[in-house]
Amino acid sequence: MKKPKTILDIREMYETKKKIAVLTAYDYPFARIMDHAGIDIILVGDSAGNVVAGHENTLPVTMEEMIYHTRSVTRAVEHSFVVADMPFLSYQADISDARRNAGRLVKEGGAHAVKLEGGINLRQTIRAITDMDIPVVGHIGLTPQSVHRMGGYRIQGRNAEQSRKIKEASEAVREAGAFALVLEGIPELLAGEITASLDIPTIGIGAGPLCSGQVLVAHDMLGLSQGFSPKFVKRYAELSQLMTNAFTEYITDVKEGKFPGKEHSFN
Ligand code: KIV
Repeated sequence: MKKPKTILDIREMYETKKKIAVLTAYDYPFARIMDHAGIDIILVGDSAGNVVAGHENTLPVTMEEMIYHTRSVTRAVEHSFVVADMPFLSYQADISDARRNAGRLVKEGGAHAVKLEGGINLRQTIRAITDMDIPVVGHIGLTPQSVHRMGGYRIQGRNAEQSRKIKEASEAVREAGAFALVLEGIPELLAGEITASLDIPTIGIGAGPLCSGQVLVAHDMLGLSQGFSPKFVKRYAELSQLMTNAFTEYITDVKEGKFPGKEHSFN
């Protein structure tokens, strides 16, 4: 029976100091499995662009793709709260675009909330979306949609000036009405200071243990992503290896006439 968590459950977890566990999902089977495993929040991340579509960064991801992924996830979910990412160019150019696109993720995708990347520059946009009664998650620090401004995926906030800007961004996002804030790729003490100073939950990724919760990209923690694995990723499984073994065994079985056997055939 569908009884997904609500923003009130997330708030209660924060107030009673229970850590919030978040993972990304982009499709029905992943969402179903992590929902049954008890994940609190599923983030339909625009990281789909990297880990599912094979793009170099998240910039090419479109609204239509995010709606497709969000629908696939919400169809599977019975217990988790679902947050959908707003992709690049769906909220930066124009506030009325931002409102319409946030609304589409809720109306067509079935998301319970949306997430967007940025700080002081997004105050009015976040306010405009929360004014439509759509809960918003902020995202500051290493923001992948700003890859070209940052000159790559670099830890942010290591010097005093950057650290001050990130703190100001956290306050701006909170004041604009965000109910939670993703802190990505910042030093753990800075994440701890922000978490202590805000009255909303922080969800860290590469931001150390002092946040109110943690998020990882599911494909990274399952060992499904290709190439470089960042320091902050703990690999809980090596699914690429398991899948390679299964595919190789199947290919051999077919070529040697061992599959299908009698038990897989009809009389
Ligand atoms: O798109 C995504 O997966 C994200 C997480 C890295 C927080 O935004």
